[in-house]
Amino acid sequence: MEPNYPAVLKQIASEIAPLVGAGAPAAYIPALASVDPAQFGMALADVDGGLYGVGDWRTPFSAQSITKVFALALALAEGGGSLWERVGREPSGNPFNSLVQLEYENGIPRNPFINAGALVVTDRLQTLTGDASSEVLEFLRQESQNPDLRFDADVAASEHEHGDRNAAVAHFMAAYGNIDNPVPSLLEHYFWQCSIETSCADLALAARLLARHGLRADGSRLLSRSEAKQINAVMLTCGTYDAAGEFAYRVGLPGKSGVGGGIVAVVPGRCALAVWSPGLDARGNSVAGVAALDRFTTLTGLSVF
Ligand code: DON
Repeated sequence: MEPNYPAVLKQIASEIAPLVGAGAPAAYIPALASVDPAQFGMALADVDGGLYGVGDWRTPFSAQSITKVFALALALAEGGGSLWERVGREPSGNPFNSLVQLEYENGIPRNPFINAGALVVTDRLQTLTGDASSEVLEFLRQESQNPDLRFDADVAASEHEHGDRNAAVAHFMAAYGNIDNPVPSLLEHYFWQCSIETSCADLALAARLLARHGLRADGSRLLSRSEAKQINAVMLTCGTYDAAGEFAYRVGLPGKSGVGGGIVAVVPGRCALAVWSPGLDARGNSVAGVAALDRFTTLTGLSVF
């Protein structure tokens, strides 16, 4: 039997209320540091078309690394599995913006969800489409049926201004021949992609692609069932960086976080969830967001385990 989603979401919001505001918004991107941390929203989109939400679930925020999931889906759909020759599928056990493994591993990033791996994916998407960031934005607009979704120019500029680490990572991989496009334009596409503003409702609808085993909102197939399974698997093992083990332990779902404080999670065959609260823990994951997803799987039993 289907859980009573509105009641479950309401209960979660009230239970995690004491955690809203815990942690701190990302400070290394100044445009994100000024966001009011006392916000929380959660949305659920089920495979039958239902959409439910609680709290600030319609408020736009910076999607950041959550867009890495959709860039990966598009790069695989457009270009196929040869991408995996350039990026691995193993957890890194390191922070999302770390450089240390890249030299030992010859410029091949551990997985597509750390910044290094996402830069390779965006590079591939850029080669395939000629406009990687617009491709991701257009995809999100279509899946969320929200034509108003847009890039946030202030956030993109702030990332550019404070983008030394990402620039270092991209140049380092280029030195190994693992970047095809000019690094400055690749970085711009990556920053613009990260800056897309979405609400929990938008993200839950977009992540439904992975709950529906690769079917888009219009019923067309973007990914094979197998590709959708593979993306979900990599989200489970790598989607929350050096906290992926803890996230799997607590939540038990494929999930992807962003430093804007959002997290998407997928219950394959059932629904997609998006949660947002800007206060982050030391590893860059939303404190209240992880707690809310933990409560969701505990209350409903809907986990992959
Ligand atoms: O490149 C960065 O550092 C940010 N634009 C995205 C990082 C991010 O969201 C990591 N997620 N927790």
